[in-house]
Amino acid sequence: MVKHLVSLSDLSKDEILRIINNAFLIKKRWYDYIDRKPLINKNIALVFELPSTRTRISFEVAGKCLGANTYFIKFDELQLARGESISDTCNIFSDFFDAIVMRVLKHEILLEFAKYLRIPVINALTIMYHPTQALTDIMTIFEVKGFRSDLRIAYVGDGYNNVCHSLILICSKLGLEMNVASPKGYEPAQEVLNLAQEYAKESGAKIKVYNNPIDAVQNADVIYTDVFISMGREEEKEKRLRDFSGWQVNKELVRYAKPDYIFMHCLPAHRGEEVAPEIIDDPKHSVIWLQAKNKLFIASALYLYLLRI
Ligand code: CP
Ligand code: NVA
Repeated sequence: MVKHLVSLSDLSKDEILRIINNAFLIKKRWYDYIDRKPLINKNIALVFELPSTRTRISFEVAGKCLGANTYFIKFDELQLARGESISDTCNIFSDFFDAIVMRVLKHEILLEFAKYLRIPVINALTIMYHPTQALTDIMTIFEVKGFRSDLRIAYVGDGYNNVCHSLILICSKLGLEMNVASPKGYEPAQEVLNLAQEYAKESGAKIKVYNNPIDAVQNADVIYTDVFISMGREEEKEKRLRDFSGWQVNKELVRYAKPDYIFMHCLPAHRGEEVAPEIIDDPKHSVIWLQAKNKLFIASALYLYLLRI
């Protein structure tokens, strides 16, 4: 059966760890992989509706370096825009390509593609989930802090958000502790919290939601934030800037974390909004560039895993 990555619910704990371990191996032997070209003769489509810098580049460079042909396709240039059905589009994609990396705003559209495709689809972000980002984030945390299960991860800011939702799912699958703090009305989706509770029963994860950033950041090993205005939320900009005032990760807030905490952000960042410049650009604590670079190795590991190579 075809294996997709629509959300982290598609992967077991063992599969997540296998993908992260392979990403480390690929990182270590990157030039061997480039020489070996394990994706030779594979054709991979990158279908994007929304802007992307890091995710697009990672999947494009990973595909090309490992030997595949990659094709960047703008979602709104497909005949879908003129009324062709998703199932007919999927028939074409399945005949021409070996895998699809897809970034669309509506999660339901991605689910619909996953239903009809006969080849793997990798979710490169929807408004609901960003699973490849969470895999990269956990890889980065393990790289800096070691493979530990006693880490306390604090997420501060917009909780009803693709990045936060995927982090919740990955932490709950892996048995980690994650404390989310969001203003009232911006907490993570209840359906995501329900899934997390279900996974936590098996993994022992602790996932908590607060409405005060200090509660989440207390003794944290990791402080994570994301933009206040995600893609698709642009028309809520003024209200969000009001609602999130006082929610910046800054010098006053990080004092509550462990002295050796690390700062993470999926990027792109808005310095001065969700994070103060001196925090995101602090070389002692901020790991944002390592985090961004690791996207290349997770993209590579995901291709190999989902294409069963
Ligand atoms: N973090 C992330 O997904 O970045 P891009 O939007 O640039 O792909
Ligand atoms: N939450 C952000 C993530 C960008 C990578 C957004 O959806 O815009």
